[in-house]
Amino acid sequence: MDQAESLRELVRKRASVNSSYLQEIERKKPISGKRSEQIRTIAITSGKGGVGKTNITANLACTLAKMNKKILLLDADAGLANIDVILGLTPKYNLHHVLNGERKLSEIIIPGPSGIKILPSASGIQEMTDLSKGQKLTLLDDFDSIQDKFDFMLIDTAAGITSNVMYFNMAAKEIIVVTSPEPTSLTDAYALIKILYQQYAKKRFRILINMVSGAAEANKVYLRLSHATDHFLNLNIEFIGYILHDKKIQDAVKMQQAFVELYPKSQASFCVKRLAEKICSENPEYDENGNISFFGDRILANECQ
Ligand SMILES: Nc1ncnc2c1ncn2[C@@H]1O[C@H](COP(=O)(O)OP(=O)(O)OP(=O)(O)O)[C@@H](O)[C@H]1O
Ligand SMILES: [Mg+2]
Repeated sequence: MDQAESLRELVRKRASVNSSYLQEIERKKPISGKRSEQIRTIAITSGKGGVGKTNITANLACTLAKMNKKILLLDADAGLANIDVILGLTPKYNLHHVLNGERKLSEIIIPGPSGIKILPSASGIQEMTDLSKGQKLTLLDDFDSIQDKFDFMLIDTAAGITSNVMYFNMAAKEIIVVTSPEPTSLTDAYALIKILYQQYAKKRFRILINMVSGAAEANKVYLRLSHATDHFLNLNIEFIGYILHDKKIQDAVKMQQAFVELYPKSQASFCVKRLAEKICSENPEYDENGNISFFGDRILANECQ
C-alpha cells in the first residue's frame, strides 16, 4: 500500500471527516496506483528565520542535479516564496493556482538551473500562510501523482513552528534542521525539534550548521544542541555537515543565480558538494521517520484539522 493509499484508508476510517471531501480524494485516485519507492523527500527547515534554508536548498538541488539526480525543488514557504527570486525566475503559476483549482501541480513545474525542476509558491497571499485541511490533503494527493519522475524532492520550508511548517515536515520522510551559531537560532532549532518529536513523533533529525568559520565552530554548535536534545528530550540527533560563512552566497543572491553555478570553486560550493555527497552515500532505507500509517494518522489528527 503506498502513502496516498494509506492516507485514503485512514481518511475513510474517520467518520467525522467530511464525505464530499473524501469523494474528491477518491476521484483523484491515480488509475495505476504505481509510484516510485526510490524518491527521497527531504525537508530543509529551521526554527529561526534567515539561517540560510532557501540558499542551501536551491544550491543543494543544483549540486545533486549535477550528480545526475532528478530533482524536484518545492518552495514550501507558502506565504513568502523566495526560491524563484534567488534563482532569477518569474513563474507564471504557483501553488496558489493549484489550490484554487486553476492549474494541476504538474502544470506549474518550471525548469531551473542545472536541470532541476521547481514547484514555485506564492508570495504575499495571506491565505497561503495557513493552508486548510482540504488544501493539505489535496496537495498530498497531487504530490503522489508526480513523484515517480524524481530521485529527490527537496522542500524549502518557512521558518518557525506554524501549522504549514509542521505539515511540510510531516510530509517529508527526512528532515534536515538548519541552524546558525547564534544562540537564538539554536534555541529555536531545539524548540522545533522538540515539537516535531513530542507532538508529531518524528524521530530522526539531521543538523546542518550554517554560516560558521570552520569545522571547530560547527562542532561546538552541534554539541550544544545535541547536549540539550540528549538531556531534555532523551533524543539523539545527527550531524550532517556545515556550510562556511561565505560572502559569495550574498553576491550570488544579488545576481539572482545559484552560487554553485556562479562560483563553483567557492568555499560555500565546496561545502554544499560535500553535503550532497553525504546525502547520496546514505542508505535511504534507514529512515525512522518513514512509518507510513503513523504519518497518515498524525497528518489527519494534527495537521489537517
Ligand atoms: N553560509 C552563508 N554565508 C554567508 N551568507 C549566507 C550564508 N547562508 C545564507 N546567507 C545569507 O543569509 C541570508 C538569509 O538566507 P536565506 O534566505 O537562504 O535564509 P532562510 O533560512 O531561507 O530565511 P527565511 O527563514 O526568511 O526563509 C541571505 O542574505 C543569504 O545570502
Ligand atoms: Mg527561506
